[in-house]
Amino acid sequence: MRAGWFEKTGPAADVIHVGDMNKPVAGPGEVLIRLHASGINPSDYKRRANVKAAPEFLRVVPHSDGAGVVEALGEGVTGLAVGDRVWCYNGQWARPMGTAAEYISLAQRYVKPLPANTSFVEGACFGIPCMTAYHAVHLAGSLKGKTVYVPGATGRVGAYAVQFAKWRGARVIASTGGGEASVKAIQELGADIVLDRKAADLGARILAETGGRGVDHIVEVDLPGSIGFDESIIAERGSMVSFGAASAPTMPVTQIGRRARNMSLHFIFVYMLDEETFEATCAGIIEAAEAGALKHRIGGVFPLERMAEAHHVAETTSGTGHVVVTM
Ligand SMILES: NC(=O)c1ccc[n+]([C@@H]2O[C@H](COP(=O)([O-])OP(=O)(O)OC[C@H]3O[C@@H](n4cnc5c(N)ncnc54)[C@H](OP(=O)(O)O)[C@@H]3O)[C@@H](O)[C@H]2O)c1
Repeated sequence: MRAGWFEKTGPAADVIHVGDMNKPVAGPGEVLIRLHASGINPSDYKRRANVKAAPEFLRVVPHSDGAGVVEALGEGVTGLAVGDRVWCYNGQWARPMGTAAEYISLAQRYVKPLPANTSFVEGACFGIPCMTAYHAVHLAGSLKGKTVYVPGATGRVGAYAVQFAKWRGARVIASTGGGEASVKAIQELGADIVLDRKAADLGARILAETGGRGVDHIVEVDLPGSIGFDESIIAERGSMVSFGAASAPTMPVTQIGRRARNMSLHFIFVYMLDEETFEATCAGIIEAAEAGALKHRIGGVFPLERMAEAHHVAETTSGTGHVVVTM
C-alpha cells in the first residue's frame, strides 16, 4: 500500500516520505479500513517537527483521524460489515501506524459509522477536533438558557465548539483575532455574537452582552494566556474548559472573589478520555452530523503523494480550516 511516514523529526519537506509499505491485516478485535481521507491536526505536525525528541518508533505513519470503507473484519468484530463507510480516531495514538496510508487496522472501539450526509474528507475531521469540541461543550451540562464563550472560534476545535453549543441550545459569544473575514465565517457557523479578540473593550462588551452577569462556560484554546481575562468575564458557578496551552505550561488561578465562587475548571486530553465518554462523544457527533447541524471548514485537500506540502500548509496557517490528505 502507499503510505506517508517519517523516521526522524524535522521540517516536513526533509523528513516526510511517501512510498510503499506492507498492507496491514485485521487482528482479533480490529477493523481493516481502506482509507479515503486522513486529517492533519496540530499534534501531528508538532510531533513531526519537534527536533528535540526522536520519534517514538523507528518509522511513524502519522495522523490520528481518518475516514474510509471497511475492507475486512478481525476475529470477534460485530456490528460492522465489509463495505461500511466509517470514520476513525486515535489512529496513531501510542502506536506507529496512523491514517496517512491507504489502509489502517484499528481496534473496533476507535471505528465508528460515517453518516450518509458526511463526505470522507469531512469525516476525517471527526476525530481530534470534533471530539475535543463536543466534550468541551458537554462538560457544561445542560446549556438551556446559558451563554458559552468560544475564543479562537475560527480554529478547528473552536468552530465545532460554536456549533455544538448552538445545537445544544446555548447562546454563543465567540471571538476571533482574524478580522472581518473571520467574523463572517464564525457568524455563518451560527454564533450569536462575534467580537474582536484583540479589542481593548472585549471584556466590557461580553459583560454588557450578558447583563453584567458574565458567561456560564468558556471553551478556551489558550488558558495560560487568557486566565486573567476569563476570570473577569465568567459568571458565578461558571465553568472553563482548557484544551490548549499555547503561551505557557502553567498559570496562576485566582482563589478569591465573586467569580471564583464555585467555578469549575476542566482540562481535556482527547486521546485518553474514558471509554464511556469516548462512546458518548462519538454518538453525539454522529447525532449532530445526521441532524445536519455541522458545517466543516476545510482549508486544503492534498493527495497523499503531496503529504509534505499538506503538513507545511497545516502548520503555517491558522484559523483557515482543516487540511486533509486523500488516498
Ligand atoms: N488537549 C487536547 O486534547 C487537544 C485537542 C485538540 C487540539 N489541541 C490543541 O489546541 C490548540 C488549537 O488546536 P486547533 O486544531 O483548534 O488549532 P487551529 O485550527 O490552528 O486554531 C487555533 C485558533 O486559536 C486562535 N488563537 C490563536 N491564538 C490565540 C490566543 N492567544 N487566544 C485565543 N485564541 C487564539 C486562532 O483563532 P482566531 O484567529 O479566530 O482568534 C486560531 O484559529 C493546538 O495547540 C492543539 O495542539 C489540544
